[in-house]
Amino acid sequence: MRKFTTMMTAAAALLAAGTATKAADVEVLHWWTSGGEAAALNVLKEDLESQGIGWQDMPVAGGGGTQAMTVLRARVTSGNPPTAVQMLGFDITDWAQEGALADLNILAGMEGWDDVVPEALQKFSKYDGKWVAAPVNVHSTNWVWANKAVLDELGIAPPQTWDEFVAALEKVKASGKTAIAHGGQAWQEATVFDAVVLSTGGPEFYNKVFVDLDEEALGSDTMKQAFDRMAVIRSYVDDNFSGRDWNLSSAMVINGDAAFQMMGDWAKGEFLNAGKQPDTDFLCFRFPGTEGKVTFLSDQFALFAQGPEVGKEQAALAAAIMSPNFQSAFNVVKGSVPARTDVSDEAFDACGKKGIADLKAAAASGNLVGSMAHGHANPAAIKNAMYDVITAHFNGEYDSETAVEELVNAVQINK
Ligand code: BGC
Repeated sequence: MRKFTTMMTAAAALLAAGTATKAADVEVLHWWTSGGEAAALNVLKEDLESQGIGWQDMPVAGGGGTQAMTVLRARVTSGNPPTAVQMLGFDITDWAQEGALADLNILAGMEGWDDVVPEALQKFSKYDGKWVAAPVNVHSTNWVWANKAVLDELGIAPPQTWDEFVAALEKVKASGKTAIAHGGQAWQEATVFDAVVLSTGGPEFYNKVFVDLDEEALGSDTMKQAFDRMAVIRSYVDDNFSGRDWNLSSAMVINGDAAFQMMGDWAKGEFLNAGKQPDTDFLCFRFPGTEGKVTFLSDQFALFAQGPEVGKEQAALAAAIMSPNFQSAFNVVKGSVPARTDVSDEAFDACGKKGIADLKAAAASGNLVGSMAHGHANPAAIKNAMYDVITAHFNGEYDSETAVEELVNAVQINK
């Protein structure tokens, strides 16, 4: 009882500190730099501002967060970590392992996070029994975004299978439009690869190669087939794809210059930010052959330890992120779905409602897998080694057979 009282007192003080007094600014390192991402970030900034907490922005562009993690390492090495950092999957575990993150257990206990955050996310939010990060959303990479008018004009229905997809791509190409809007950056190619591997081999195969790093599966014919499909996709992108940012690819679909983009559901944020509506202006569907299956990732805010206690502005940030109202308001704009199971889907559009339902169903049926491209299947060293092989193959440096061999080698070296 005494322990409980002490805990409640500490928790009450923590929350009071976060809400009642004027707290310092929070400095937040993140990679939300596109129009849609900035709109979502504003929901968080405004929430904190309403509590009297200022926001120091530290943006470092680049999906998957590779560049942001490099900047973070430099900041921590110089003894000056930010207050909070957008982080994915195994990167959170790595920083927690180094003892760099704050212990949020008092707040998490008071607010019952254990009961409402899905297991698959808790695996990364917690380290050694302690909450070290607050999950703000769940994104998924096995989506395709399409311009509805372009598809209607060409008489294309959303493809369900790989063969239907290739037939659709061929039709678009023949019309003179770009079939696939793609940005040639390693993380974007890896994002497409998530979906292609899931479609080609199914969830069990996906986990064998990306999570278990099973040599036989990595070197298999199924993996070669996945690379062959990447080469087919490559043949439907336009000539100027190299280095293009993902949101510029989204703009090509939004403007009707291209038919499809394969991208995580942050792409929906761009469509919404451009005033477009699902089912009217654009379509969202699962990458052909992956209906009912979900590659997930969760943006979490890891809080860097600032001493023995959680900073008051840190506690306010974490509490704001975890509030059900915020999770709805933020994710409606961001294109993702809530990181809590108790948030209604009422405010979400058709794609968001499908995202919420798909996530629930996939988790219940064993069809939920962690996104390799976004750090939810294996640690950064393996992920980056995989990126290198996937992107070299996409750019024609390797044929599919060589890519398979290189993938096996890359994993062996970095395991
Ligand atoms: C993040 C998303 C972000 C995307 C593009 C992903 O790694 O999880 O929140 O929108 O990168 O920047």
